[in-house]
Amino acid sequence: MSRPIIDLTDDEARAGLVLKWGSIPADVLPAWVAEMDYALDPVITETLMSLVAAGTTGYPAFGDGGIGAAYAGFARRHFGWELPEDNSVVTGDVIAGVRLALETWTDSGPVVVHSPAYPPFFDLPALTGRERVDLDFDPDASRAVMDLGELDRAFASGARTLLLCNPHNPMGRAWTRAELEGVRDVVVAHRAKVIADEIHGPLVLPGSTFTPYLSLPGTSDHAVCVTSASKSFNTAGLHCGHIVSPSPEVLDVFRGVPLPQNHAFSPLGVAAAVAAYTRGDEWLSSLVERIDGQRSVLADALAEHLPEARMRPLEATYLAWVDLRAYGHDDPGGLALERGRVMLGEGRHYHPDLAGHVRINIATSPERLREVVRRLGRAIS
Ligand SMILES: Cc1ncc(COP(=O)(O)O)c(C=O)c1O
Repeated sequence: MSRPIIDLTDDEARAGLVLKWGSIPADVLPAWVAEMDYALDPVITETLMSLVAAGTTGYPAFGDGGIGAAYAGFARRHFGWELPEDNSVVTGDVIAGVRLALETWTDSGPVVVHSPAYPPFFDLPALTGRERVDLDFDPDASRAVMDLGELDRAFASGARTLLLCNPHNPMGRAWTRAELEGVRDVVVAHRAKVIADEIHGPLVLPGSTFTPYLSLPGTSDHAVCVTSASKSFNTAGLHCGHIVSPSPEVLDVFRGVPLPQNHAFSPLGVAAAVAAYTRGDEWLSSLVERIDGQRSVLADALAEHLPEARMRPLEATYLAWVDLRAYGHDDPGGLALERGRVMLGEGRHYHPDLAGHVRINIATSPERLREVVRRLGRAIS
């Protein structure tokens, strides 16, 4: 039975999404933080209701709570990726997992980050005592590509780890197998490591393919994946991510850390992730269909209200990186809020040195998305 995507009303969104909607003035339309304006998959709601009714609000049990087996099935069905059932160590969320991997499994050399980036990527190296090496995507290219020559030079100059975002937020790229093989070959040549944040993997859109980095041959000894069901199923507040590796030796590194280094995940988050991975396929397929439609709504609305805007093809997820440099404002996101009463991701948060860009969250209704673009157009053109 198909499970449709149900749009939240403004009041429901304000009550439920306490950050995205609830923490901004009522006349501002939010299209910023990566949460979706949709009701939860009923499978998740029912799972949580029954756990709360049973009083499952204490500490999580030892072990992975079934996430490894659930993710193995999900990865097989969605990505054609065969994993052993024992593949995961649960973490507080993806950021906590990336931090744990940096702290315990990489050496102390510099970390490569491609910019624009998901903002916490800029802070994680310093927080873990590592330098950061920024590699920029060419803002004028029609499609973001990772420059392998630059990556090679970064490793040759001492970098030891690549923080890979696959698919990429905010560039919207689902890296192809060939591109990832190119990355792997450079990494292997330098005996470096990869932490692959694959939280957006399930949200790959029609026409593109998500390739898990670890599904490539010759990666299991130098890479880990960090992921979560939270971005695809709107459950970030339940706090559950997981580090994935097919290698028992790699998993043992994370299992061996002292409790305070990895303890902040909840039994509700674990159960929601297992429900999502085992019983969420129909809802996820409705979601991908909706986001696919929203890509077209965005393209049409930009053509109407901001014809000089440049948007690269959105291959995955619901976060569109839009180049508004033609309108001549350094901070179009700030103007959009001030004059248009619409809250977008401000480009400078994703790349401090790149003016004139915004990130638009399209996971809302078609009507709201059109209004977002109309308000942005009014504010900056
Ligand atoms: C690439 C990426 N990684 C991680 C996160 C956050 O994940 P978590 O809330 O599990 O830390 C986001 C949120 O938007 C993201 O885009």
